[in-house]
Amino acid sequence: MRALGLISIMIFAALSACENYDLDMHDQVSFKVQESPRFRKPANSVTMAPERVDYSEVDAVTIENPFPVDESALAQGKKLFEIYCMPCHGADGTTNGMPVADLLEPRPADLQSEAVVALTEGELFHRIVEGFGIMPSYKKDLSDREAWSVTEYIMKLQIRD
Ligand code: HEC
Repeated sequence: MRALGLISIMIFAALSACENYDLDMHDQVSFKVQESPRFRKPANSVTMAPERVDYSEVDAVTIENPFPVDESALAQGKKLFEIYCMPCHGADGTTNGMPVADLLEPRPADLQSEAVVALTEGELFHRIVEGFGIMPSYKKDLSDREAWSVTEYIMKLQIRD
């Protein structure tokens, strides 16, 4: 009888603990269909969605980097290269030490090869933004400025003048 009393106290305690929870699934914190955004942009903030130029039909040879090439651009290029390009092309662009490169047909290009060094900066940039052969396009991942920073970093790796 005592045990029964104890159990009923426990059930009562458990139920009353739930009392504060709303069991109506409709009233939850998640967004509702067509609900407008709950947060306003901070005052004076600037939307950073990159403005995309469509380079698909542009003559790659003629494109030039409109952004300044300084230490911070090259540091960003290195960082992005290591994230997006190194897995296939290797840390120095030669594909050395990248087992994945052996599995791809055609093999990722050696970015230090004469053929790639002969590309203009515009052609390199275009390959990144629009993709090349089986290599995917990076226009969804990299803004134009970021793609240029990677381009400049590759040219630094290649030790162009
Ligand atoms: C999934 C593997 C992979 C990744 C990641 C990758 N590439 Fe490539 N890349 C390739 C392959 C494969 C080729 C050769 C494509 C072909 O010949 O069809 C190639 C070719 C190239 C070429 C040579 C194009 C030419 O004219 O010969 C350049 C330049 C290049 N990649 C740069 C990059 C850069 C920069 C990144 C990072 C933003 C990158 N790649 C990321 C696989 C990759």
